[in-house]
Amino acid sequence: MTDLPKTFRVKSFGCQMNVYDGERMGELLAAQGMTAATGEDADLVVLNTCHIREKAADRAYSDVGRLRRDDGSRPIIALAGCVAQAEGAEASKRSKMIDLVVGPQAYHRLPEMVAAVAAGQRPVDTDMPAIAKFAALPPRRRSGPSAFLTVQEGCDKFCTYCVVPYTRGAEISRPFADIVTEAQALVDGGAREITLLGQNVNAWDGGLDRLIRAIARIDGLERIRYTTSHPADMSDALIAAHGEIDKLMPYLHLPVQSGSDSILKAMNRSHTADSYLRLIERVRAARPGIAISGDFIVGFPGETEKDFCDTLAIVDAVGYASAYSFKYSPRPGTPAATMEGAVEAQVMDERLQRLQRRLAEHSLAFNHATVGTDLTILIDRKGRLPGQMIGMSPWLQAVFIDSAAVIGEMVDVTITRALPNSLGGVLRRVEVAA
Ligand code: SAH
Ligand code: SF4
Ligand code: F3S
Repeated sequence: MTDLPKTFRVKSFGCQMNVYDGERMGELLAAQGMTAATGEDADLVVLNTCHIREKAADRAYSDVGRLRRDDGSRPIIALAGCVAQAEGAEASKRSKMIDLVVGPQAYHRLPEMVAAVAAGQRPVDTDMPAIAKFAALPPRRRSGPSAFLTVQEGCDKFCTYCVVPYTRGAEISRPFADIVTEAQALVDGGAREITLLGQNVNAWDGGLDRLIRAIARIDGLERIRYTTSHPADMSDALIAAHGEIDKLMPYLHLPVQSGSDSILKAMNRSHTADSYLRLIERVRAARPGIAISGDFIVGFPGETEKDFCDTLAIVDAVGYASAYSFKYSPRPGTPAATMEGAVEAQVMDERLQRLQRRLAEHSLAFNHATVGTDLTILIDRKGRLPGQMIGMSPWLQAVFIDSAAVIGEMVDVTITRALPNSLGGVLRRVEVAA
């Protein structure tokens, strides 16, 4: 028997949904009367892990090891997130320091599991009751200016390289009314921007455009975004919404992964380079000037120099405003992990560098095109230099200004300079504070 923890710390390592889960776990623990600790001395530490790329599990175990304090004591340690889901009971066998293991669909049970730890048990819960989790979470009360809201979870797409269908389970959609209630609570708690989240957010089963329209009616909410979308679920109605809903920001994250049709087929992506490009054309027709962002994997098994050049070609054809690019990482249990034609590490490094150079050229070009224009930014954090503030543009560019502004304010600026990953701006007029 040990005492119930009084303070906690949640560390999130993954995607936006992982961050959202981390926030919800924090709210759940706070609702039990525990206080969030910022230092290293929390009574309970939740490691909210990500399993998407290499050595994720190893890293999680070494993070666990580092939680031992100089005096030999340690906090109660909860392994949560996608590594917890993948490892399950193995985790508490492999490390005696892990007191409880909780998967991403079961974390609403965290408080009772912590109580079980205090009573001397080592609980593991990797069940996937999916929707039950949300109903068991406390309502949202406070929010920063930009909030995440999970509307859809899980994935039925089974891209051959990806662990998500195994760690998050099958696609499920939260009910319309619950989402609208949570959005309203976030706005009441201070949010001015909401990003709707899902592993395949545009597969939300009531029609994502309808949901966006409903949320757009909330007074005080200024901006709506959504991520991540799958090309196969980009409906005509959702594309049209980009031209019709003012609060829907001109930004779309639509991963293509590769520009080679044979690699796309081996990845079990349902699009071709050409069908993807036609889709982008339709999106741009609905919302001219929209920023397109994407994800890329280089060095998928069997990728030739020619396949890679097709990827560079699609980058040029789309002209991405921003993108994430990764070296292929074999994930245990996925079909691609046993495919032949592994690409040499050195070749992968070289391709990643070439791809990133090309992507940076396009980001810079996109950013340059905004120099001289007037736009509104949502201030969301301080810059590193004294007096500097950072706000996000409608196209999700970070804009640095050297003026006093309050976090959460919408500020009108003129863009004066462009870098590959940010813009510089000067103040035009400050809106009445939020
Ligand atoms: N649901 C989203 C993204 C999920 S994971 C989608 O369908 O696009 C985020 C990104 O990680 C993916 O888009 C992919 O580019 C990358 N990724 C996933 N598995 C990977 C792996 N095994 N190796 C390297 N990158 C991977
Ligand atoms: Fe992974 Fe593909 Fe599902 Fe995205 S669509 S989560 S890449 S399996
Ligand atoms: Fe990582 Fe799980 Fe998100 S594997 S990317 S935390 S869904």
